[in-house]
Amino acid sequence: MNDVSPIKAGLDVAAIRADFPILAQTVYGKPLTFLDTAASAQKPRAVIEAEVGLYEGYYANIHRGVYKFSQDATEAYEATRETVRAFIGARKGKECIFVRGATEGINLVAQTWGRSNVAAGDEIILSHMEHHSNIVPWQMLAEEKGAVIRVIPMHQDGSLDMDAYAGLLNERTKLVAVAHVSNSIGTLNPVADIIRMAHDAGAIALIDGCQAAPHLRIDVQALDADFYAFSAHKAYGPTGIGVIYGKEALLDRMPPWQGGGDMISTVTFEKTTYNDLPHKFEAGTPNIAGGIAMKTALDYITKLGHENIAAHEHDLLDYATRQLSGFNSVRIIGTAPEKGALISFTMEHAHPHDIGTILDRQGVAVRAGHHCAQPVMDFFGVPGTVRASFGIYNDRNDVDRLIDGLKKVMEIFG
Ligand code: ALA
Repeated sequence: MNDVSPIKAGLDVAAIRADFPILAQTVYGKPLTFLDTAASAQKPRAVIEAEVGLYEGYYANIHRGVYKFSQDATEAYEATRETVRAFIGARKGKECIFVRGATEGINLVAQTWGRSNVAAGDEIILSHMEHHSNIVPWQMLAEEKGAVIRVIPMHQDGSLDMDAYAGLLNERTKLVAVAHVSNSIGTLNPVADIIRMAHDAGAIALIDGCQAAPHLRIDVQALDADFYAFSAHKAYGPTGIGVIYGKEALLDRMPPWQGGGDMISTVTFEKTTYNDLPHKFEAGTPNIAGGIAMKTALDYITKLGHENIAAHEHDLLDYATRQLSGFNSVRIIGTAPEKGALISFTMEHAHPHDIGTILDRQGVAVRAGHHCAQPVMDFFGVPGTVRASFGIYNDRNDVDRLIDGLKKVMEIFG
């Protein structure tokens, strides 16, 4: 069970902001309004201190030493595994493989499960709104194996065409890989239905949970996801560490990926035998400090409560949507009924990069561009968008500052 504190009404944003040292910084003499959590979240002091605490207090390599620091570091690192298990509702800790991030996790599945299960003529279904990291690894696999990529189309509002999806599934479908929440337009996809339909067709399903894990409660068993990927750095944790969850039965049958220390059981020049899960997929010295601090980040989220976080961010999304709808020159890109904690838009006469630069000078940090989702931009016929994404430290004042910044953009561009 997750260690969830009792539900409080909303979030105490002032107290949360005080936990994030960077939010006290000014930018060009202005307070920082950080609206780029979807790219990477800021870090609470506790996460920073968890990394420093290791390096100053008990640093040593893990899984190797008989001495105290090595054992302490190993214990702290492995404690994260149990936290991750509870955080995503996995059955066992060993189903949670630590990787550099979601991108590496998806590549791991493509190159291990994919190489041994996908053959010429097999089909892999992706959605039109995938991040490049949930497209390119499958294209590389398809090219190598002679497999075929099929794409679930979107409706004009940026929701998935589920009827078209049903029509794509067939006995050649091997895998369906879909984002839980789109990073570029925010659509919250019906992943439980997507997974069930994949299973009914005899396929398995991988969910890219990068934009969901920091914001929504995840339960991989309830979803019946075969694989689920997320990165710690978008969840208020360190860079260079993340998780690929896989069902034990699948992971057991998959060949290892990278070879090296830790992933072996015995090595001779004639033959190597491999370690058990999760170590079979964790070759070499990992990101020890990141792994330890990932626990602190996930504990921080759990303490606030996913329900509180989702309600708070939903309020910000609604508020921002209402405010942006007041501009005739603004076009919101992605208007699906169910959305995660971000909003994408364009403005007449102004390129997203120019808007982002003008906002930056007002102390407002947004992402501008194609958001590593070029097919989405092509679908909407735009070169890119401005994306404001929300986190636990944002409040309506941040939205107001975004709106004030956009008024400045209008003054300049008319
Ligand atoms: N995938 C990250 C984003 O959406 C980097 O910004």
